[in-house]
Amino acid sequence: MVWGCFTEGPQRMELPPRPTLFDFHGVSMTKYFTDNWENIQSFKARPDDILIASYPKAGTTWVSYILDLLYFGEADYRSSVPLQERVPFLEISVPSRPKGKDLADQLPTVPRLIKTHLPVQFVPKSFWEQRSRVVYVARNAKDSAVSYFHFGRMNRVQPEPGDWSYFLQNFMQGKVVFGSWYEHVNTWWDQKQTYSNLHYMFYEDLIEDSGQEISRLCCFLGLSPTAEQKELVQTKVTFDNMKQNKITNFSTVPMMNQSVSPFMRKGRVGDWKNHFTVSQNEQFEEDYKNKMKNSALVFRSEI
Ligand code: PPS
Repeated sequence: MVWGCFTEGPQRMELPPRPTLFDFHGVSMTKYFTDNWENIQSFKARPDDILIASYPKAGTTWVSYILDLLYFGEADYRSSVPLQERVPFLEISVPSRPKGKDLADQLPTVPRLIKTHLPVQFVPKSFWEQRSRVVYVARNAKDSAVSYFHFGRMNRVQPEPGDWSYFLQNFMQGKVVFGSWYEHVNTWWDQKQTYSNLHYMFYEDLIEDSGQEISRLCCFLGLSPTAEQKELVQTKVTFDNMKQNKITNFSTVPMMNQSVSPFMRKGRVGDWKNHFTVSQNEQFEEDYKNKMKNSALVFRSEI
């Protein structure tokens, strides 16, 4: 495989149709994440692989770029390869595009950095058997919902989101791709209690103090970057720099219409306040209390 060869201009590729949701072993999914299922399930993870997992829109791209820079710096032969090829999205399978599983198989790096949004019960078992390290990123539910809504508007790989209030109801009911936010964050948290190679982190903490979160990541991964290296990583991964960077802003992905909403959209905690009405917020809070009543997780919707 030649890195970079899958990045095509929009004019050269027939865009896939918007998919519909269906129930897949109890989780709402679409064909773009289930079509390659047998191959995904039989993926052969290695002990030095690092799986970057999250519910959609939790900051996966951010953490992926941090890890990519920590491990590989800015090695020149990779400098023009978009992040989605350096850190393949394991379960994605869209017509005319390379499958995430194949990209992961062909990754020349050690470690291989691999992204997934799969609920924990769908993760290929070889990751657990090989005791691969896993970094899970979680983001508060309200900002996740808002970010996911705008992502659905701009990305043809997502079902039509409808209007905000329709999308919000679906989000609360888990009728969005990869299912329920509530189940995702909680079952991954449960996994951490028995699987010690899992680092569970929060988007809000990264926003508040990226230096501290990068240090914690390094500690988990056994990395000791110099102060200069760490400084460089911190500078490169700011929202503004990643938004300008064609390696990280998904501007090369034809399925995304960034004029509808940019992939690097706001990058803030609390943007939900610009979307939720007072009554939507009350209803959401009530439902949240109920769904999260047995959870040890505490999220911050403002900082
Ligand atoms: S995806 O498509 O599910 O993989 O999206 P994901 O990368 O998980 O999440 C996208 C949101 O993360 C924001 N983001 C950042 N915020 C702050 N700083 C940096 N560096 C950063 N990089 C990505 C991105 O803007 C999306 O959030 P919203 O709220 O939509 O802006």
